[in-house]
Amino acid sequence: MKVLLVVTHPREDSLTLAVMTRFVEGLKENKHEVDILDLDRDGYNPVYSAADELDWNTTHKQYAPETRKEMDRIAAAEALVFVFPLWWYSVPFMLKGYLDKVWNKGLLQEFTTKQVLWMCLAGGTKEHLIKYEYHDLVTSYLNKAIAGYARVRESKVEFFYDTLSESKEYIVGLLEHAYQLGLAYK
Ligand SMILES: Cc1cc2nc3c(=O)[nH]c(=O)nc-3n(C[C@H](O)[C@H](O)[C@H](O)COP(=O)(O)O)c2cc1C
Repeated sequence: MKVLLVVTHPREDSLTLAVMTRFVEGLKENKHEVDILDLDRDGYNPVYSAADELDWNTTHKQYAPETRKEMDRIAAAEALVFVFPLWWYSVPFMLKGYLDKVWNKGLLQEFTTKQVLWMCLAGGTKEHLIKYEYHDLVTSYLNKAIAGYARVRESKVEFFYDTLSESKEYIVGLLEHAYQLGLAYK
């Protein structure tokens, strides 16, 4: 399968990038083709400007070349995967800017054939997220408010909990989980 993977984290040594790397290793092992957009290191500009706003409701759309390029990458992929840290129970600004700019109404038809996986790294434990209803909040936001609204064929959220744990063993387990997810991805 052709997978477009979008990742964001400002730090090169972040767990987010390590999880992404292991997931991609699994994907490749499983013979999937991966196109990686690293929003931070590829110099993506997340600022939504007046030029982007003009296009939301018009039928004859003239996207900025950078936005058109990202839309073409989506069109060429069968699956979209996002890897990101949970920030304020939402996606970080880089990813939000990407979604605001690239998931434009003119592209919505494209999504009906796509599957999306949101790989979300959370500092909180599973129990904490469930207890305070953040688990359902984030899942509904990603699956319904974003992917559902965009008419994505299938959307799933995979949480990586307790990412600030000081247990080396636990972190190794998270990385192994990412690898296994890539390996089993279909
Ligand atoms: C600005 C900011 C906001 C954060 N907000 C949350 C949050 O809402 N919920 C949560 O569980 N963790 C939160 N965290 C913790 C991150 O999710 C955590 O740092 C990340 O999962 C750890 O992986 P990393 O090394 O890739 O950053 C936040 C961290 C930062 C820097």
